[in-house]
Amino acid sequence: MVEIPADRAREAVVEAALGRLDLDAKARLLAGQDMWTLPALPEIGLKSLVMSDGPIGVRGVRWTADDPSVALPSPTALAATWDPDLAHRAGVLLAQEARRKGVHVLLAPTVNLHRSPLGGRHFEAYSEDPYLTGLIGTGYVRGVQSGGVGTTVKHFVANDAETDRFTVNNLVSERALRELYLAPFEAIVEHAHPWGIMTAYNTVNGTTMTEHHHLVDEVLRGEWGFDGFNVSDWMAARSTTAAINGGLDVAMPGPKTVYGAALARAVRAGEVAEAAVDTAVRRVLRLAARVGVLAGAEPAVTEPPAPVDGPALAREIARRAFVLVRNEHAVLPLRPGTVALIGSAARDARVLGGGSATVFPDRIVSPLEALTAALPEGTLSYAVGADPVTELALGAPGFTLAAVCRDAAGHVIGTSTAPGGQIQWLGSDLPEGVTHDTLRTVQLTGTFTPRESGTHTFGIKGLGPFTLTIDGTTHYDDAQLPDADDPFVTFFGDPVPHAQVDLTAGEPVDISLTHVVTYPDEAPLKSVIFALAHQGPPRDPAELIAEAARAARGADTAVVVVATTERVESEGFDRTDLRLPGHQDALVHAVAAANPRTVVVVNSGSPVELPWRDEVAAVLLSWFPGQEGGAALADVLTGAYEPGGRLPTTWGSLADAPVTQVVPENDELPYNEGMFIGYRAWERAGRTPSYPFGHGLGYTEWTYESLEVEGTTVTVRLRNSGQRAGREVVQVYLTPTEPDPERPARWLAGFAGVEAEPGASVEVTVELPRRAFEIWDENTWAVVKGSYEIAVGRSINDRRLTTTINV
Ligand code: BGC
Repeated sequence: MVEIPADRAREAVVEAALGRLDLDAKARLLAGQDMWTLPALPEIGLKSLVMSDGPIGVRGVRWTADDPSVALPSPTALAATWDPDLAHRAGVLLAQEARRKGVHVLLAPTVNLHRSPLGGRHFEAYSEDPYLTGLIGTGYVRGVQSGGVGTTVKHFVANDAETDRFTVNNLVSERALRELYLAPFEAIVEHAHPWGIMTAYNTVNGTTMTEHHHLVDEVLRGEWGFDGFNVSDWMAARSTTAAINGGLDVAMPGPKTVYGAALARAVRAGEVAEAAVDTAVRRVLRLAARVGVLAGAEPAVTEPPAPVDGPALAREIARRAFVLVRNEHAVLPLRPGTVALIGSAARDARVLGGGSATVFPDRIVSPLEALTAALPEGTLSYAVGADPVTELALGAPGFTLAAVCRDAAGHVIGTSTAPGGQIQWLGSDLPEGVTHDTLRTVQLTGTFTPRESGTHTFGIKGLGPFTLTIDGTTHYDDAQLPDADDPFVTFFGDPVPHAQVDLTAGEPVDISLTHVVTYPDEAPLKSVIFALAHQGPPRDPAELIAEAARAARGADTAVVVVATTERVESEGFDRTDLRLPGHQDALVHAVAAANPRTVVVVNSGSPVELPWRDEVAAVLLSWFPGQEGGAALADVLTGAYEPGGRLPTTWGSLADAPVTQVVPENDELPYNEGMFIGYRAWERAGRTPSYPFGHGLGYTEWTYESLEVEGTTVTVRLRNSGQRAGREVVQVYLTPTEPDPERPARWLAGFAGVEAEPGASVEVTVELPRRAFEIWDENTWAVVKGSYEIAVGRSINDRRLTTTINV
């Protein structure tokens, strides 16, 4: 356990406060009072603890754009920087955002692993490598907590896919758990001392994670010395006794939970020891003391760090995260001349992934906007090329809507903004003046201004009675009923089309969607969730592509931005393939044929297949680049900055990917591959991916000059042998020289970033952790003695120098 004296000083206050609480108050404190908060207990000077997602921004307690949040690049992007210090700076900004919004605990970071590229929340996790994940997560947690805001490292553990996530029993060997899935959590507990952890929905080896005494109490707390609080993932707790005895401190959200009154009753019935409740309350009070909401306790941070410029940091992280995987004939940076910018996502950038990671930034800089500003006037043209949104979409551009709340008598009782027409009011998160008791109808009202002339389709996502009126005509007046038993269907279900209307570009029409609010008895919390969906006029895909190819042919360089959509990458479901949606692949083939200087920007949070990658001059992966993504893209395309990212995960086709299984059979998902995921599995299968782990080009060249190893200290000398200043990520890989089929052929053992001016030579040292030489041997860590090759280089496949050591 990390001993922090200030923590000890707070313990006395915590104990005294605990001693003054009766059983009912203690049980109440362990249950959410609503979607995001715990109850205040004024009798001990405890204010309400507020939690919020996480991880790329701080949404706050409202699911609206009323109080916007800085949106940083996706976690995959943050990991692609291979820079724990940058992750630390991201954390400091997020703490600043949290404090601004009155949030005490950030529900982040997500440190599950990229086991399969199909995992729906792949974009929200860092890497396929546990060491890289642990280091980025450590930087992030330290950064957030240095701002006095708690974290919940999530989702403990093995929540690596979304299919049947509430019920799936992941069968994972102890060794794979220790060496892969637990490893980032362990590293973060050791090096960042997190104040919280979130236990996952899924089951591991027969026990659901909110009840997993072995992994939570014995491993996390016992072996690693974690002293923070353990909160359930939202609605994951299902049993009062099993959860409290399995080490779960807080059941979220409320008010209907297995804790609270149910927990007090269980103690009175003799089913739960009051001491178990005290233990959990102690941890919550410790958290409250650390974040400064328990009277008499000095918070862990009394002086918040210096203010951070959020948009500037978002832009810096984005360009440091972009991975240039191909750059033939140095097509990038752009040379002077004309540019044909192509792609729907160049205009409507996809900057973040869907689900609980959603935040609402106050602006989004698109590539079109940023390149228009950055390039000389008259040199940029734009064509849509292909629209990846081939279905009804939410939050489409062109809507200007507000939500009007009325009671049963039809009186207005409150209003709220509703950008794009999405309502998501959970629990007590309602517009001012509105309660669930008084609310009868919600009307989305305002205008829609089409960008294109033609037949527009409108639809509704949500359950219950709706009336949809467009330009004075009522197109739907009926109820949408559930077609599945899944409680999450309202969150993740598909919108249903209800109206087709001919509209003229630029001419606004009135829109009204009224929903009669109903509250199903079985719902764990009262909520109002629905949205207006839209799809633009269908265009002939061949015509769009031909138009883009014409534009490309006439320009010096073509830049195509391809993207996934919210229907492809989001929390709540896994992918079934890795293809780009719509006609985007055909578009790139056509543009590449029209212009040899074609640059493709891939705007996706996780790997997609790039069947045209050898036909184009350059491929730049931009991830979900956050609110300033377009500006960062302009920085990198024009050469003001080099792209700094290296792949945190292997990119390849689904057919070649060694581990793809995410669908359980009979509720079971065996991790049959053991320790062989990611590059470990690609190497074992003898397959060559499209782009290997660690790969990424900058705008200069590097020559690795010498490698020395003293004990476990690796010293590398390298020279910037190119034409401009740059940054290199020196990667160190370890290989047992005697092959051992039980161990991967090679793994990442360390890395370091270095910067140098052209012609300059730099020396960098990398300390290899003892763990790099260890395996989990039955029930303990053991160093495997013998000889190891140490290789340093630019990716797992591009190793420049090697030497051998004996351990
Ligand atoms: C997600 C968590 C998130 C929580 C609260 C869950 O669905 O799995 O990551 O923190 O919701 O939004």
